[in-house]
Amino acid sequence: MNGPQPHAWLNALLVLAEKSQLGLLWLWHALGLSGTSHGQPAWPWARRIAGETLLIDLPLARQVGFSLCALAFAVLALVVALAWRRGRPVLLVSAGLALLLAPWPEASLLLGPASPTSFHASPTRFAVDSIVLGQRTYARHCTACHGNDGRGEGPLAASLPQWPPTLVSPLLARRAEGELFWHVLSGMRDRRGRPTMPAFRGQLADREAWAVIDYMKALSAANSAEGNWPVPLRLPEMAIRCGDAAPVALSQWRGGQRVRLVAVDGTAASLPYEDPRFLTVLVTRDGRVPAQVPRFRAGCTAAARAWEAMAAIAGLPPAELAGTQLLADSAGWLRARGTPGTAWSDADLVCVSGPAAAAPAMPAGIDGLTALLLRMDAEPVRFVKGGFIH
Ligand code: HEC
Repeated sequence: MNGPQPHAWLNALLVLAEKSQLGLLWLWHALGLSGTSHGQPAWPWARRIAGETLLIDLPLARQVGFSLCALAFAVLALVVALAWRRGRPVLLVSAGLALLLAPWPEASLLLGPASPTSFHASPTRFAVDSIVLGQRTYARHCTACHGNDGRGEGPLAASLPQWPPTLVSPLLARRAEGELFWHVLSGMRDRRGRPTMPAFRGQLADREAWAVIDYMKALSAANSAEGNWPVPLRLPEMAIRCGDAAPVALSQWRGGQRVRLVAVDGTAASLPYEDPRFLTVLVTRDGRVPAQVPRFRAGCTAAARAWEAMAAIAGLPPAELAGTQLLADSAGWLRARGTPGTAWSDADLVCVSGPAAAAPAMPAGIDGLTALLLRMDAEPVRFVKGGFIH
């Protein structure tokens, strides 16, 4: 996702806004003042802090920042005034002045529309089963308007009063997951209240609505130009089998290390060599361990469905996936895509920071894979506004 680097203070402000709203939500729910919606505590208000506006309206964000400082000062002055009798008049007057002079932002600018699921978290963990379920759901209900490739040019698109947006854009990263979920189930309307996007409540179970969001993210990666994904993707959750041990969840087994997924067609020659710089997981068509895995050639195999999910992310028909590799960094984000028969290089990075983050200077004479890993570590995926950007 290319764009200006947000200021550190602005990011801190957005994280604070997100966390305090989440805290309020849980407090309200714990006090029994709000119910649940789709299995999670419901946001009881029609408005929320518009983090997306603060991100682009710096003067407004500054106003909010100064007002918060004034508020913090006033609270501190009041606390000290309680304990310090002689200084009390001065403290009370300065607290009052701080509150009076603070550049309070206008509520209509600061707040944006919210839905009961605005702060919901997706329960899917971006699992391979969910991506594959989402793929089916999307093909059945969404391609007519949004198109097979997600660019909004399905056969019905031209007949709609409003063109569907392209999903191959940062859109899915900018919106909170819970609001995407709400838009899919409840539909959307234009300013005059006319429906634009149809509602799928009644047609889709919650599980399918969350799954289709996972698939749309995979689709945005699969159809991105120049190999730069508009939305960062997590390493998909999947069950893996290592040696004779019982299957475990990849997230538990990974232990904070880098992971490489390799789609293999089952012949011993196609198996990659182990590499101590990351854990290697073989992805096979049917989820079965290849008949012979020679020593030093990767220990773990992903269960069924990983093949289809990986093909969806790579943007390849499943029949052409063999040989493709995906590399995840130690924080669990997919960062690079390897092409069959080609050595790794730092040009394989698919989750790249904006132009402002210059590539680090590389020591001379290092191989392509080392250069790639150095860049991955030097440019971690960053958290912004309740979402993540590269
Ligand atoms: C009849 C055509 C149509 C169908 C079918 C359709 N959409 Fe849409 N979709 C639209 C239009 C038009 C918009 C733009 C709405 C707007 O901005 O007011 C849209 C917007 C969206 C958005 C952007 C939401 C946002 O927050 O801005 C998402 C995500 C989306 N659709 C997902 C889906 C999914 C998932 C399906 C299938 C389950 C689907 N759509 C089916 C027409 C359609």
